[in-house]
Amino acid sequence: MGVLDMLRQREKSLAVVGLGYVGLPLAAAYARHFDVIGFDVNKAKINKYLAGEDPTEELGSEALRQVSMEYTSDEKELEKAAFVVIAVPTPVNGDKTPDLKPVKGAAEVVGRHLQPGSIVVFESTVYPGVTEDICLPILEKESGLVCGRDFKIGYSPERINPGDKVHRLANIRKIVSGMSMAQLFLRRSSTWIYGVWFCVYYEAVLLWQMPVAWFTFWKSTWGTRMTPADLAEAAKKKRKKAKA
Ligand SMILES: NC(=O)c1ccc[n+]([C@@H]2O[C@H](COP(=O)([O-])OP(=O)(O)OC[C@H]3O[C@@H](n4cnc5c(N)ncnc54)[C@H](O)[C@@H]3O)[C@@H](O)[C@H]2O)c1
Repeated sequence: MGVLDMLRQREKSLAVVGLGYVGLPLAAAYARHFDVIGFDVNKAKINKYLAGEDPTEELGSEALRQVSMEYTSDEKELEKAAFVVIAVPTPVNGDKTPDLKPVKGAAEVVGRHLQPGSIVVFESTVYPGVTEDICLPILEKESGLVCGRDFKIGYSPERINPGDKVHRLANIRKIVSGMSMAQLFLRRSSTWIYGVWFCVYYEAVLLWQMPVAWFTFWKSTWGTRMTPADLAEAAKKKRKKAKA
């Protein structure tokens, strides 16, 4: 059974690591579809969420109280997850270099509890190469698993603008990348990242290789909620038109 099906049937959970401005609304959106574990190292923050208070004001306390998900600082809970989204901060050091400590720390925590067959997607803003060259080796070392064989990774940088009440999580164009085309496109692939993302985002732009390879025909699909099969058909039509 694929990860998406396991999430849909609530056999496995989706975990969001880092419940701040980005992670909390994302976790809440996913909680409408799946069992969600919201994990944060900040216990005071977790207690606020448990009390129904949203200090980020991104979601609002009233909306937060309608959300049904597990809030925890207990990293062992991550063992229930088959899909993990990492949304921890990426501050800048005094010398203007990126401070990767939170991202590395999150990769360590997730790696320690990573289950075979899982998908880990980085949502934090990082420079190219951090996911594959820095975080992936940490995940492998901590879990003893091999990426590509035992688990998969993806990158989907958050593009939300906190405080913007018009361009919300559900109507911004989302960039999703994975390790292979199958991981993004094939419904039957056991690691169908795109399907998981499409549950909450109105439109997702796909990158099937993390480094580059833009999938550019989104223009023709703007404003529609299309399945990968629809997207493939649209591309075919576009190629035909270009040839004519
Ligand atoms: N907020 C924005 O405007 C915005 C917009 C787009 C992208 N981003 C990016 O999204 C990422 C998250 O930003 P944010 O604004 O939500 O940050 P935030 O500081 O609001 O929240 C991050 C949360 O992660 C937690 N955390 C830190 N280390 C952790 C660890 N090892 N394990 C678990 N939790 C941990 C913190 O306690 C905090 O609650 C950053 O990379 C940021 O650049 C932010």
